[in-house]
Amino acid sequence: EIHQNDEKHASNQNHENTNSHLFTASFTNNPYPVYEKLRKDEPVFKVMFPHGEFGWIISRYEDAVQVLKDSRFSKDMVKRYGADRQSIFSSTMLFSDPPDHRRLRGLVQKAFTPQLVAGMRSHIQDIASDLLDNLPSQETMNLIDDYAFPLPIIVISEILGVPLEDRDKFRMWSNTFIEASTMKNTVLLQQHVQEFTEYLTAWFAKVRKDPGQDLISQLVIAEESGDQLSEKELLGVVSLLIIAGHETTVNLIGNGILALLEHPEQRDLLIKRPELIHQAIEEMLRYNGPVEFSTSRWASEDIEFRGQHIAKGDLVIVALDSANRDEEQFKDPDVFDITREKSSHLAFGKGIHLCLGAPLARLEGEIAVSTLLHRFPNMRLQADVDTLEWRPGMVVRGVKEIPVQLI
Ligand code: HEM
Repeated sequence: EIHQNDEKHASNQNHENTNSHLFTASFTNNPYPVYEKLRKDEPVFKVMFPHGEFGWIISRYEDAVQVLKDSRFSKDMVKRYGADRQSIFSSTMLFSDPPDHRRLRGLVQKAFTPQLVAGMRSHIQDIASDLLDNLPSQETMNLIDDYAFPLPIIVISEILGVPLEDRDKFRMWSNTFIEASTMKNTVLLQQHVQEFTEYLTAWFAKVRKDPGQDLISQLVIAEESGDQLSEKELLGVVSLLIIAGHETTVNLIGNGILALLEHPEQRDLLIKRPELIHQAIEEMLRYNGPVEFSTSRWASEDIEFRGQHIAKGDLVIVALDSANRDEEQFKDPDVFDITREKSSHLAFGKGIHLCLGAPLARLEGEIAVSTLLHRFPNMRLQADVDTLEWRPGMVVRGVKEIPVQLI
């Protein structure tokens, strides 16, 4: 019995040890060694989140797919926490279950189909070329601020019909929401939620008087025509699209180019064989996916999962970037290889909440990377990789600034 207690003690210590390595600065910079340990030792890991609540992290590929497809893991956070803990995103597709999920997703799905998005190719190409023509300098740039960030913002602002001049405000508000889990200052968070809500509410009023062809106009018309969409849901879906448009594709482009700069032989291969761009984008999504963890789900009943008892009400999140490096699923998972065949990564999630913007993000990524490489084939990193600063927070995986020498 003493021996058993020792073992239990050792395993508890091991658990505490791993827990203390999660969500630290060094984890943010390079989470992959911690993920490898999780997949090996505790693939269903009970964790204390930075916001002080317990939950489970799922780190293996196969388990990740299972959780993302299992309807017993609910996304309805109002049901979980009650109506008084609502956020701006509570009434969105991302935090609802069927049948609401189907209705809310259905209202915007048509705007993001692969066919419709494919029709935007030449326009997105023009935006990318313009950004490069008008760089502050043709010798150096900050890849994030000068290129990776503006491109998806211009595109989503045009789709929604919101004024591009306000993009600095949108960026500030989005950053606050995304980094909310690491923020001590909730006053700022509340202030930004209020400003953002007021801004959009005023914008909807303007659109109602004079609707155009854009997506917000279509949604406003849907809201007015009956019971398809409430005002709160309208606010939710537009916020979700603005934030998804700001925080994700920028990091596909940033992390993707960074991977090419770190692996010059892969960069040279892509320059020699530009038709590899589709596979290259999939590999960038797998190798350093922009969305590190899925959003939370919670167990709507007691669930036995890989030997662990997940109690009704427990939060569960999927470590997408860990699943994408699972050695059981991918050969040599830590190798960045743009010729990798059929990738089946989970960077866009899986199941009914599979990313709505995936076709758009893929197209933007392809155009951004190809155009930059074509224009500046000799570009290189202007800083030591180890000095790059990764953004804090649990959702987004991306670098704050990437200084690049262009010629
Ligand atoms: C959902 C990733 C770009 C809109 C998701 C999810 C992931 C994801 C992982 C599922 C989250 C979960 O199940 O908890 C990404 C990545 C992107 C990207 C890696 C860029 C490379 C975009 C863009 C848009 C967008 C550009 C909008 C224009 C959405 C929406 C959902 C979603 C609306 C919710 C879908 C639902 O709940 O049914 N995304 N996303 N995403 N994404 Fe994206």
